[in-house]
Amino acid sequence: MPTVEFDSVSKVYGEDTVALDDIDITIEEGEFVILLGPSGAGKSTMLRVLNGLTQPTTGTVEIGGQRVGDNRSEVGMVFQEHYLIENMSAFANALSGALSRNGIFRSALGFHDREDKLRALEALDTVGLLKEADQRAGSMSGGQKQRVGIARALVQEPELLLADEPVASLDPKAARDVMRYLKVAAQEHDLTTITSLHQVNIAREFGDRFLGLRDGEVIFDGRTGDLTMEVMDEIYYGEDAEAADILDDDGPAAGTGTGPGPDSDLVEGTAPTGEGGEGA
Ligand SMILES: Nc1ncnc2c1ncn2[C@@H]1O[C@H](COP(=O)(O)OP(=O)(O)OP(=O)(O)O)[C@@H](O)[C@H]1O
Ligand SMILES: [Mg+2]
Repeated sequence: MPTVEFDSVSKVYGEDTVALDDIDITIEEGEFVILLGPSGAGKSTMLRVLNGLTQPTTGTVEIGGQRVGDNRSEVGMVFQEHYLIENMSAFANALSGALSRNGIFRSALGFHDREDKLRALEALDTVGLLKEADQRAGSMSGGQKQRVGIARALVQEPELLLADEPVASLDPKAARDVMRYLKVAAQEHDLTTITSLHQVNIAREFGDRFLGLRDGEVIFDGRTGDLTMEVMDEIYYGEDAEAADILDDDGPAAGTGTGPGPDSDLVEGTAPTGEGGEGA
């Protein structure tokens, strides 16, 4: 389980789309890190430079002291769309994780050693699907499919586990189940894990450390207790959140002369709480 290091990493698409803006971050061995941030903040890009699908424009990314190169087998990835082979069993799908280690040729010929098969069964057990090993992936629920995706990543025997919105299309209960299994998988296999997540409540339950991205910058780096409402507003609403805070604390901001504008959901959302619990 390696340390992950971003050293002055920027990623620019085209002329001026800055997806990552000078990121310096070290993620320690075994940490379970959740990336938060609005759409377009750079979460997927951060994951993609880690699995080598995208090259940084400048800066370096290292996993366990080695620059990310084309040996991707050390990085396991769970996707939002699970990319399972629907007409194959859960077991066969999990086993296909061995492909990146064994090469396509051996795998295509069905050469899987006993150890790989055992690994696939163990991985299915880890995600609570041992009994469903023979079930066709296409007939499984969204949550079960996602768990098969985790099992497949485990069979890869990665050191680093990445997941991009692994529970985005699931209902809250299934989403929690998948996150719980992801966490168990990470712990059992001593994996450093980085996952992006849109559901803040679920993130809070499972994350050890949170990185808040906005416009390609890491604007927050902290633990569950540090994830206050203000921090969340800052991550998701940026300057709008600051305006809301000023209005909240000191009345209308000096110089603007205006009250809450038509777009100030934040202000409306926080203002009426004055009469709430504390005084009672
Ligand atoms: N292949 C690409 N070509 C051009 N621009 C891209 C490409 N991939 C990402 N971008 C841009 O980079 C920025 C960051 O995108 P990214 O996909 O990393 O955001 P995200 O935080 O994952 O968003 P979401 O929550 O919607 O998944 C966006 O402005 C996006 O349009
Ligand atoms: Mg994304």
